[in-house]
Amino acid sequence: MEGGARGPGRREPSLPGRKSRRPTGRRDPGVSRPLVAILTGAGISTDSGIPDYRGPRGLWTLHPEYEKLVTFEYYMTDREIRCRSWQMRRQTHALAPAPNAAHRAIAELDQSGAVALRVITQNTDGLHQQAGLPARKVLELHGTSRSVVCTECGARTSLDDAFARIDAGEPDPPCVECGLAELFSVSCGAAGNCGAGGYYKDASGHFQAFVVSAA
Ligand SMILES: NC(=O)c1ccc[n+]([C@@H]2O[C@H](COP(=O)([O-])OP(=O)(O)OC[C@H]3O[C@@H](n4cnc5c(N)ncnc54)[C@H](O)[C@@H]3O)[C@@H](O)[C@H]2O)c1
Ligand SMILES: [Zn+2]
Repeated sequence: MEGGARGPGRREPSLPGRKSRRPTGRRDPGVSRPLVAILTGAGISTDSGIPDYRGPRGLWTLHPEYEKLVTFEYYMTDREIRCRSWQMRRQTHALAPAPNAAHRAIAELDQSGAVALRVITQNTDGLHQQAGLPARKVLELHGTSRSVVCTECGARTSLDDAFARIDAGEPDPPCVECGLAELFSVSCGAAGNCGAGGYYKDASGHFQAFVVSAA
């Protein structure tokens, strides 16, 4: 699918939260290359052992009740759901999912320098970055499951810290800062709003090609 090309000489859009650089007069090494967006979703990570939701072997297909474990409203109102949600995340984490050939191919395309590349992903697993794609080139539309945020005061902590607390006997760890609120994945539209959707709308006209992978 063709995006709205503006021709060489334009600056590449920066990702949300990054300060746009002032023009320095130096030639931007990216300007003569096509700017390509690759859209990815859960399907790209199934070969890494992370189930999708709605595919033939998807989590919700096989276990419809699991939808509650990742739905913010249920998570916030039901302690049992939170405990089960933590256990599910713990099990997925224990599998130590690694980037697969598709993640690596995208990182290699970036490293080849043939195109200026951005990945716009629904995924929260961080596998594009783990495959070697610089984090600044990955737009996580739905946030990340690699860190967790307090639903009340916004304090962030790593998933590993939360798992350590669960292993030490806290099945539903509250925030260490305010002591009251639940911890949830850094998730757009729920506990933390990263505004990524707005970026996607603003930047889409800058890309010269969109590549849609399994999503
Ligand atoms: N890895 C992850 O981070 C992960 C995993 C599951 C769900 N999610 C979250 O779930 C939400 C929905 O995501 P979604 O719409 O991408 O998931 P989805 O489950 O609705 O859709 C996944 C699609 O990919 C297809 N698919 C699966 N494996 C494939 C393969 N190897 N080749 C080709 N197609 C394949 C499935 O048939 C399905 O149509 C998002 O918010 C996302 O953040 C993320
Ligand atoms: Zn807090």
